[in-house]
Amino acid sequence: MTRHTPDQLQIFLDIATEAALAAGAVLQSYWGKLEAVEEKGRPGDLVTEADKAAEAIILSVINRHFPHHQVLAEESGQLGDTNSEYLWAIDPLDGTTNYAHQYPFFSASIGLLIDGVPQVGVVYDPFHQELFRAAKGLGATCNRRSIRVSKTAELSKSLLVTGFAYDRRETADNNYAEFCHLTHLTQGVRRSGSASIDLVYVACGRLDGYWERGLQPWDLAAGVVIVEEAGGKVSAYDGSPLVIHSGRILATNGYLHPQISQELLQITPLSRWQ
Ligand code: IPD
Ligand code: CA
Ligand code: CA
Repeated sequence: MTRHTPDQLQIFLDIATEAALAAGAVLQSYWGKLEAVEEKGRPGDLVTEADKAAEAIILSVINRHFPHHQVLAEESGQLGDTNSEYLWAIDPLDGTTNYAHQYPFFSASIGLLIDGVPQVGVVYDPFHQELFRAAKGLGATCNRRSIRVSKTAELSKSLLVTGFAYDRRETADNNYAEFCHLTHLTQGVRRSGSASIDLVYVACGRLDGYWERGLQPWDLAAGVVIVEEAGGKVSAYDGSPLVIHSGRILATNGYLHPQISQELLQITPLSRWQ
């Protein structure tokens, strides 16, 4: 794998920040004024003019600086040179359902994978004006202040978060059983509706752990770097290394990782919902 100096990573981080802030301004400008909300395929999987306009501005910033990099963007798909070691994973509006209902939890999420490994991440929440950033070895910040994961080590004292993929009505692997099981064992399980916000809230200690299935690389790439750089742990459900294309992630403060992993592995689906 090509090694990058801190200065090189900082340049990627600064350009991702420029793109995320520009996207955030676009999202703010459409807030409460949406005219076109469409379903993309599965029920509930929405796209709006704000998603498209935010993605266009992110792509223009990335392309201007890095015309030879690969891009995987939610609304435009795969773009650029497939031989490039750099892949930008872009979710211009993570939390579209929230946004369409004016429920204020959403972000622009921009991650950079180098040789398949997430190394730079920016998640910008324009509503709350929180800018979360990290790059490998450079630490994680929110609004330029250093952030750390929580120290909660007991499941019974923890507050977790999860989400439910758009295929939830079509599969028994719908996360309903996991949600019930962990709700019973913890102080609560939240469902924010934005995977990137879930990850950065784990990173800054507001939440102690997050798991979800059915995700895409653009939901995860930025947030996983921010969690890791804030001292947390990300993995597959069984604790093995995260495979970003699997769509399945467990992200915690580290202390709770083995306990949550163990609980997730022993759950059988709620067949009633199949
Ligand atoms: C969704 C959100 C949600 C998660 C879904 C994602 P979108 O992204 O991150 O929290 O549960 O699986 O698809 O569609 O709002 O960009
Ligand atoms: Ca998303
Ligand atoms: Ca999205």
